[in-house]
Amino acid sequence: MTTGSPDYRDSGLEFGPDFLFGTATASYQIEGAATEDGRGPSIWDTFSHTPGKVWNGDTGDVADDHYHRWEADLDLMVELGLEAYRFSIAWPRIQPTGRGPANEAGLAFYERLVDGLIARGIRPIATLYHWDLPQALEDEGGWTNRETAYAFADYARLVGERLGDRIDVWTTLNEPWCSAYLGYGSGAHAPGLMDGAKALAAVHHLNLAHGLAVAALREVVPGDPKFSITLNLHVIRPSGDTGHEAARRIDGLANRVFLGPLLDGEYPADVIDDTRAVTDWSFVKPGDTELINQPIDLLGVNYYSTVTVRMWDGATPRVNADGHKDMGGTAWPGADDVEFLEQPGPYTAMGWNIDPSGLEDLLVALHEAYPNLPLMVTENGAAYDDVVTEGPDGRPVVQDDDRVDYLRRHFTAAHRAIARGVDLRGYQVWSFLDNFEWGYGYSKRFGIVRVDYDTLERLPKASARWYADLIRDRRIPA
Ligand code: NOJ
Repeated sequence: MTTGSPDYRDSGLEFGPDFLFGTATASYQIEGAATEDGRGPSIWDTFSHTPGKVWNGDTGDVADDHYHRWEADLDLMVELGLEAYRFSIAWPRIQPTGRGPANEAGLAFYERLVDGLIARGIRPIATLYHWDLPQALEDEGGWTNRETAYAFADYARLVGERLGDRIDVWTTLNEPWCSAYLGYGSGAHAPGLMDGAKALAAVHHLNLAHGLAVAALREVVPGDPKFSITLNLHVIRPSGDTGHEAARRIDGLANRVFLGPLLDGEYPADVIDDTRAVTDWSFVKPGDTELINQPIDLLGVNYYSTVTVRMWDGATPRVNADGHKDMGGTAWPGADDVEFLEQPGPYTAMGWNIDPSGLEDLLVALHEAYPNLPLMVTENGAAYDDVVTEGPDGRPVVQDDDRVDYLRRHFTAAHRAIARGVDLRGYQVWSFLDNFEWGYGYSKRFGIVRVDYDTLERLPKASARWYADLIRDRRIPA
């Protein structure tokens, strides 16, 4: 049973004392300092410096300059009362070429950051891979090369040895769906390849990398570490008679191809069948699914919107409202005959439909499928075309009521899921700061804190104040 308003615009709903409120970021999106202290180039440096790949030619060279401003950023987190911080570690800062001994300056940066968080009472949630693969590994095939999975486990071990005792949650990968399908299928993300067979090989090697990294971390991290992975599971609404077949296909490629090996120890047979014309799956070696199927302590859920699908009839012009596919190539190997329908609004500045019921449905479905696996919302938030105006005292303000409304509705959805029995441990809002939104560069602002890209000054938006009130009272504000 759920209660509350049908539009999810509730206030007053209370979260328990252990629920962990925080925000999330990723290394390439905020750090800048791209060539400092021995950092090697990543695939996103290469991609963003390739003309035509990123809006306006934007790069992460400077980004939010968080690499130099991290202390002030952490102080601002304290001011807002944030309890956790989900950040990512840049592999090319730790191993500039993706192999070999650790670069001391890289480890030292993350050690300062983690110690700085702990000193401020903020719980560190670390992601080991948020898309900045060392370019040297891409030169050997990147995620299409099985060796990358072993290299990733070596890197995880180096980080685990240094920071092992101080990280609350270890997340191996962020959204491997994007790394595989957008990186190697649609070409919208680095390294920008468009090859369905490579995308599926990347899926498997990312899954394998996760399993090998958890095993490596388990050997070196003391105490009772929590291991996790963050997925962008797709909430798929079927349309019409063929909707269920289309939904099965997309659910297979987007969700079950990860959940299957990670949590059930096998790849779904229907996904392998559906993609036979694309690949023979010979990249899966005996014993791989056992390696991937490591026990984990938490599943990270990134949620923004939903998709609606049906099968294409082959006659009428094909509908394709899936933004990822518009960018060329294919993000959905073996599913070229699935149509992505226009979603009903309202939309955020990304053009993504706003549907908080999708978050509730997703959390409940995961809990029903895996009742003993705790969940955390590791990303949720919205891009809007923020406007800076003058406040009553003459200071600049960003009155981002649309983002407050988005967050209110999604926190309400999370609360409803908890009321339905879901073991939801926390919520990390994307994002702490405006930042480099991948192919969209700096044109899309997701932060609850504004960044002025000329001065790099930070300005908490109204949504940051709203979130601070939620955390202080542990209730959705009026
Ligand atoms: C998912 C990704 O993890 C993050 O890097 C990105 O900025 C947000 N979603 C918004 O697109």
